[in-house]
Amino acid sequence: MLDTGSEPMIGNFGRESLDLHLFFARIMREHAIFMQAGFLPKDVTYFQKAAQFKCQYDQVLKEAIRLSNGTAAEEVLQSEELLTDKTLRAEQKTQEMTGIPIDMALTVEELRLNPDPGMLQAEIEQVCALNQKVMVLTTSFAEFKAMVLDQVTHCSLVCNLFPAQLEHVYKEALFYLEVLKRLQNNQFVDARVDLLEQEVFWDEIMGEHAKFVRHLLDPSERELCRKAKELTKSFERLEQKMKGEGLPASSFGRLMHENISATLAIAEFKATGTELILACQLKSLLSPLLTDHTLREANYYLRILQTWRPDLGRR
Ligand SMILES: [Fe+2]
Ligand SMILES: [Fe+2]
Repeated sequence: MLDTGSEPMIGNFGRESLDLHLFFARIMREHAIFMQAGFLPKDVTYFQKAAQFKCQYDQVLKEAIRLSNGTAAEEVLQSEELLTDKTLRAEQKTQEMTGIPIDMALTVEELRLNPDPGMLQAEIEQVCALNQKVMVLTTSFAEFKAMVLDQVTHCSLVCNLFPAQLEHVYKEALFYLEVLKRLQNNQFVDARVDLLEQEVFWDEIMGEHAKFVRHLLDPSERELCRKAKELTKSFERLEQKMKGEGLPASSFGRLMHENISATLAIAEFKATGTELILACQLKSLLSPLLTDHTLREANYYLRILQTWRPDLGRR
């Protein structure tokens, strides 16, 4: 997203902020869980630090759920970007397999959220304060991820996550921060530029998911490894096209449709994978929470793509 001026665009500031937290606070708490599960027993201070971030994002999520009831956007609740029909089962299984406690009461509470277009003015101040708090927290979490990545890269720390995965979760934290910063500053963002930037970002993220999944699958899972390789290639191609200089307006709509069909394909792949892991029918190093997490990220991207209308801007 490029800053194209300072014209204020308050819009649905409160609702957009809360929708963002409902999605990203859960994503961040899960990154903390994946990191906890990745450290070795001797690196207890790193484990504890990740556990602390998990608890802090639990609080953010709790606050976002409290402020969101009756204000969450219907399209967001229905997009399955916040929760899928697998999330609770994935949390239960992941907690059972790793021994890492996961606050599932929050998930149950979130499943009961009601949509409503209204937002009381009084709540805007609370949303603003929450945004500020999350910006501080996410800056610190991004720094932690960067520090772990640096140590892993310099072979002074062993972590059961690929360096590319650590970089990936770091980029997602920066993206959360960037969107929040723009919301807080009421920056006007040109809808087409905004969407283009989102597409470049999420195409890269989707392609990376396909790569990680392929490397975490047991080599005997040939068919799924082949499918993951094919998805990697299709996102690499899309990413190159999106980054192409001077993208003409005529290609914009066609590329958006290509993005939608590639993202639908990867979402289906992730959903199938999650069900197979939950049913103990897949040999891999993947946790069901990790595949469900990547499925929700695909659903988030799909909503952005599918709700965009040339005549209305992004939504
Ligand atoms: Fe993520
Ligand atoms: Fe991701």
